[in-house]
This record gives sequence, C-alpha cells and structure tokens, in this order.
Amino acid sequence: MDGSRDDRQRERRFDGSRAHRARALRHVAFGVSSTPRANQLPVPLAIERAEGARVVDVDGNSYVDHGLGYGPLILGHSPGGVIAAVHAELARGLRTASVHRGEAELAELIAACVPSAEVSAFVSTGSEAIHLALRVARAGTGRLKVAKFRSNYHGWFDSVHVAGRPGRDGPDALGQDPRAAEALVLFDWGDAGAVEAALDGSYAAVLVEPAAMNAGCFAPPPGFLERLRAATRRHGAMLVFDEVVTGFRVALGGAQEAWGVAPDICVLGKALGAGFPIGAVSGTRAAMSTLMDGRLLHRGTFNGNPACVAAAVACLKELREGGPAVYERLAAAAAGLSAHVAAEAARTGARVCATHVTGALQLFAGVQRMERFADIASADRDLVLRLTGEMLRAGAIALPRGLLYVSTAHGEAELAATRAAITAAMEAFAAEGR
Ligand SMILES: Cc1ncc(COP(=O)(O)O)c(C=O)c1O
Repeated sequence: MDGSRDDRQRERRFDGSRAHRARALRHVAFGVSSTPRANQLPVPLAIERAEGARVVDVDGNSYVDHGLGYGPLILGHSPGGVIAAVHAELARGLRTASVHRGEAELAELIAACVPSAEVSAFVSTGSEAIHLALRVARAGTGRLKVAKFRSNYHGWFDSVHVAGRPGRDGPDALGQDPRAAEALVLFDWGDAGAVEAALDGSYAAVLVEPAAMNAGCFAPPPGFLERLRAATRRHGAMLVFDEVVTGFRVALGGAQEAWGVAPDICVLGKALGAGFPIGAVSGTRAAMSTLMDGRLLHRGTFNGNPACVAAAVACLKELREGGPAVYERLAAAAAGLSAHVAAEAARTGARVCATHVTGALQLFAGVQRMERFADIASADRDLVLRLTGEMLRAGAIALPRGLLYVSTAHGEAELAATRAAITAAMEAFAAEGR
C-alpha cells in the first residue's frame, strides 16, 4: 500500500471490520477469542455469514475461505446434513450431561473409520483430548515421561504447550507453570534415531503429530512413524498420534490410514465435529483399559454433548458415504494449489513456496524451497502474514500463518478464485522484490 487515493479507497472496503475491531477491543480481551485470530491482515475480518466454501464480512465482501474455522469445517460452512442433524437433536432437548444414544453411535462410527479406534472417550476440544490421552498413557503404563517433538502443537495446556517454535524450547505462553511440562523430553520431529536412542522403560508415551501440520503440512519422512511404532513396542510405551488436524482430513482413517502405521491411542478433534466443539481419545482396548473399567476418572460437564455428537455422527456418515472420491478431491485440490504456487514462484520470481498433504497446504515466504522439516527455521513468519493479507485483499482467506485448508465444498470455481488470489499476492511480492 503506497497511500495513494486508489489504495485508500480499496482499504475502505474493510471499514466495517475495522469499526468492529475497535468496538471489540474495548471489552473483549485483545478483541478476539483466540490470540492468533488477531493476526489477520489487513484487519481481523468480522464475518457476517458463511455458506459452503465462502464467507461474507460485515462490509459485504465475499471470500473463498481456506481458514475453515482453523480446520474443523471439512464439509465447508453450514453443511446441510450436519445442520439438520443438530436441529433434530436440539428439538429433543439439550440433555447435557445425560447418557444418550448418540455416544455409542459415534464411537461405533469412529471405530469403523479409524484403524486403532476400538474404544473412544469424548471431550469438547482437542486440548482436553490431549490432556486425557496423556493420563491414559500414564495410567496404563505407570510411568511419567513423554516424548514430544519440537514445533508440534498439542493444545494450550501447560503440560504440553512448549517448544512451539524453532529455537525455543520453553513454555509458549506467559503464565504457564514450567513444572507442568517437566516430564516431557523434547526431540526433533522426523528424527526417529534420537527417539530410539533415548527411549527406555521410563517412558509412558511418544506423542507425535504424524504429519507435522502446525509447522507446515509435512508428511512423515519415510520410516519415521514405523520406527516410532517399533521403538514404543520394544519399551512398552504407548504411541500416541495427535490426529486433531489429520483426523478425517488426510484420509477417512486419518494419518494412520494414510501412512499405514497404527498408534495405541489417537486424539481426534476439529473435523470430527464439522464445526461443533468435540474431541475424542480413541484407542485399542488394551491401551484404553484404565478408562474402560472406570479406574481413570474422566470428567467434564459438556463431554458427549448431544448436539455436538449429532454433528459428528452426521459428518462421519457423510464422509463415509462419499467414499474414496472425497479424499481424491481433497488431495487434488491441495496438490493443485501447491503446484500453482510453484509455477507462480518460477514465473514471478517471488520467494514463496508451499508444502501440502491431502486437504491442506502451507505457504512459506522468504524462501524458495522447503524440502526438509529443519528448513522451517529459515522461513519468514512476518512475511507470510503479509502474503496472506495480500491474498485476502484479492478475495481468498488463508490462516494468517499461511495454512490453507480445503473442504468438500471447494469446487473448481472456488479453487480458480483462490489461484487468482495467490497470483495477485505473489505478483505484489515480486513487484516489491520479495
Ligand atoms: C495438532 C493439534 N492438536 C491439538 C490441538 C488443540 O485443539 P483445540 O484447539 O481444539 O483445543 C490443535 C489445535 O490447533 C492442533 O492443531
């Protein structure tokens, strides 16, 4: 933006969102309900309505949305089947904290979709599910230590919210109790050898994002998950896959189906509820035994909330009924956008690149290639915020950190609009010599 009259006029398109931000800042802490949402450029959009692959802001601007609620909206915004199921459930009464039939139906569906998920326990968010999964692992093994990988994110609870960024191993938020994470041992994601060398009979679990989605859509390097599987078996530790992002996204059965390695326990969230808050810890009968016989206290007023369970049941049924074509389309969409980034980088000279897995891609700025996980340290995080800001101005929303999700609602017309927005953003970068 050079401050010209045209630019000022273009920026007026966001006046309503700016006014909303000013209002929110007066009484909502930081003006948002989750800190990263404040990073959106040119201003955190106040969304008026959303349908399918599109959202409309309070100024009436329409965008193709690849933020998708930070991942849950695998079926797009307001999917008809899910909304109808929730309406029907609400008509039967809220019945919060009661036993109802939906829980068993959902657990059966999860078991039918996800290889390791013989038994499930429900909570409301991914963070809670991780917390419960670690309790299950510690209770089942009678051990304390947990292997965790740098730049994997497992929610915001003190026991795991550490080492979120390259070069910083400590707590990720102010006010955390650093002692809560004392039983974690940190490793570099992808380095199976280091885990094999360190693992012994004192580890309860190896906790891992099977594809590194919070650092940039990296598929597991060949052999990585297999070696973690073998090492945990050797030492009697549980292998815990955090599938909060990969679950129902990279395949119906998640990363464990996509890369063919089954954990003892997996943690599900996000796409499970198609936009409604629900999380699950799912695992083999052996791994889940302390929960199954009631020895391990599993508490929570909103656990198994009927409306959220109904949404999840409807979501999984729709994904299942769609068959392999659903995931072929999600794979082609992410690969196609990623290839477009590469082609535009070659054409314009902009230093932007992308990595992808089925259903998601990550943009990196300030670097020409992103071949290995270790390369994430060289990407420019501020620049990618600006890149996504340029894309937003051109009509497509990515998460500010450069992540784009795709949903089953993204058709060819929407993907073409996203490609055009990527082109506009990269041309703007190239013109500035970035
Ligand atoms: C891999 C992973 N695990 C856990 C979580 C925490 O989930 P929630 O935000 O629902 O608490 C997230 C959230 O982004 C995540 O990406």
